Parts: sequence; structure tokens; C-alpha cells
Amino acid sequence: MATATDLKGLADRAVKEISSAADEAALEAVRVRYLSRKDGLITAATKEIATLPAAEKPGYGKAVNEAKQRVESALEERGRALREGAIAKSLSETADLTLPPRRVRVGHMHPIARTIREITRILGSMGFESVEGPEVEYDYYSFEALNIPRDHPARDKFNSFWIANPLGDPTDRRVGLRPHTSPMQIRVMEKRKPPVRVVVPGRCYRFEATDATHESIFFQYEGLAIDEQISMADLKGVLYSFARQLFGGERKVRFRPDYFPFTEPSAEIAFDCFVCDGSGTTNKGRCATCGGSGWIEAAGCGMVHPEALRRVDYDPSKYQGFAFGGGVERLAMLLTGTPDIRLFHENDMRYLESV
Ligand code: PHE
Repeated sequence: MATATDLKGLADRAVKEISSAADEAALEAVRVRYLSRKDGLITAATKEIATLPAAEKPGYGKAVNEAKQRVESALEERGRALREGAIAKSLSETADLTLPPRRVRVGHMHPIARTIREITRILGSMGFESVEGPEVEYDYYSFEALNIPRDHPARDKFNSFWIANPLGDPTDRRVGLRPHTSPMQIRVMEKRKPPVRVVVPGRCYRFEATDATHESIFFQYEGLAIDEQISMADLKGVLYSFARQLFGGERKVRFRPDYFPFTEPSAEIAFDCFVCDGSGTTNKGRCATCGGSGWIEAAGCGMVHPEALRRVDYDPSKYQGFAFGGGVERLAMLLTGTPDIRLFHENDMRYLESV
């Protein structure tokens, strides 16, 4: 059993710990150690009073009370000091209210990405599923299977980046950066049975000089529909509807005969120039955007060549279809009023944030 002297020592120890408690949490830990109802050291001494002979109770009880009171008042005093210190400290912290606030920069989609989403959304509403294909492509898919053999003059149009293989390549296994999205016509048809309706957005590459409407890295979108009973009228209908949804019915759409080895017949589709309104001239002279023609060629199209259908084991007497492919940047230029294609890839945030 503890004696009155022990109790004084206990209280001394507690008071010392209280005065060195650095914050309110440390202070609370001291309180618990000495005064916790369950197993506080002083609480235990209090409980012992009941077990003492009557004669000893008053003296011991008085010592316990004294110890308890000393500890309680020390706790209170130190607690107050700590709280006051915390308040004083927080008042001395200054915030400079004259500093300009941090600018919140809200991101937004790149105009090219936005245009691709718009293209796939519109064609998606007409039942075209959006798929993607490889940018590094075999000669076979970029050309051979599309009816453009090695010596065909149509290859001149697609100045391609080839990847040299020191081991040599069999003709159609040559690998290069795809110069158009048309290889995906073959890849999709190889994998699926008709009916087929897909739209293929993606990056393409051509080794050519850049100007206001050409870049060596650019995006195309390709459409392909194969079924029984598909005619050129369906192609026209889809493209007219596409142009109206994209441009709100304001633009003129022009169809002219064209030539592609993988479509027959073929056509070229153009929209009237948004800068000169189709006149070919502006107040500065010849319109730089359309080169003075008044038209911006937007896509090539046509009925899928029977030879391409046979390549993928589709029966041309049963199935027909159409394909079209065009530049995403051309459409983005029309939609944003951008007069030079290079503005899209220069990554000048001042321009990109303005369109
Ligand atoms: N791939 C052709 C090009 O890049 C465009 C095209 C696509 C033409 C589909 C016809 C059909 O010039």
C-alpha cells in the first residue's frame, strides 16, 4: 500500500510531467496516466482508501485528495497556457491578401480531337462503328490489296515513308508509315462478314512539303459500308447528311468524277471555301486557303472495287459497298475558321485556346 510520502512523490512526478507537456495531446496523455477512471495511478490510490482500517482512513484520504488536487490544478493551468499559446501563434501567422490568386487553367480538347469526335459521332448516328488501325503498315494493306501494285502510277500520290529492313523484304511485306487510312478497309473486311459499316479515324504520313493546307503528318477519317443492294446513291446520301450535320447546312457540297484504283466509280467531294465564300478571291487578292479555286477538297470516295472485294473473299456479285476518306484537318479548318493547317500542330497555346 502506498504511503502519504509515496503519494507526494507521485504528485511531484505528475506535476513535472505536466509542466513539460509540449502540446495538448501530450498533456492529455499525462492526465490519463494519473487520473484515468480505470487505471490512473492516483485513481488506484483513491480506491485503496476503502480497504484501510478506520483509523488510517482520514490521514491517507487527505493525502490522496491533496495529490489529486495538485495534479488537477496543474493540468488546468498548463492546459490554459497551451491553448493561449496556440491562439497567439495562429494570430501571428500572416496571409498576404494582396497576392494575385493562382490562375485556374481549365483544359479543353485539341481542335483535331474535337473534330474526330464530331465525325465519329455523326457517322455513328448513321450506324458506322468507330475502329482504329496500325500506323505502321505493310505495303500489302497500304497498296497491293487496294489494287495499287508496285509499279502503279497511283503510288506517286502517296509519297510514303518506308522503313528499311536490312534483311530485305518480299514486295508486299515491306513496312512503312501508312499514307492513308484505306488499308483499314481491307483489314476490317478480312475480319468481318458483311454487312460492314465502320468509320476509321487515325494518323497518316506522307513525305511531302508543307503549306497552308498540307502537312506530312495529318489525320484522316475513312468510311466503309458493305452490304447487299448498296449503290452510289447511298454514298451520296451519307456524305450530304454528314456535311449538313457538320456544317449546319450552310456549305455547298460538290461531287466530281475522280480516280482511285480501289474504288470504281470514284468521286472527289469538296465544300465551298469558308474564307472567300467560294469566290476564290479576298480583299487581299487570291484566297490563300483554297488557292483561288473557291473549293476545299475534303474527301475521296467511290464504290469499293470488285477486285478489293475478291481479295477478302467477298462475292462481288452479291455484295457492294462504298468507301470515302478525307482529311480531318480540312474539316477542323472549316469548323474553326483556321486559315493555315500548321496552326494545329505548332502547339501555340494562345492559338489553341482561342478556337
Ligand atoms: N485513301 C484515299 C486518299 O487518301 C481517299 C479515298 C478513301 C478514296 C476511300 C476512295 C475511297 O487519297
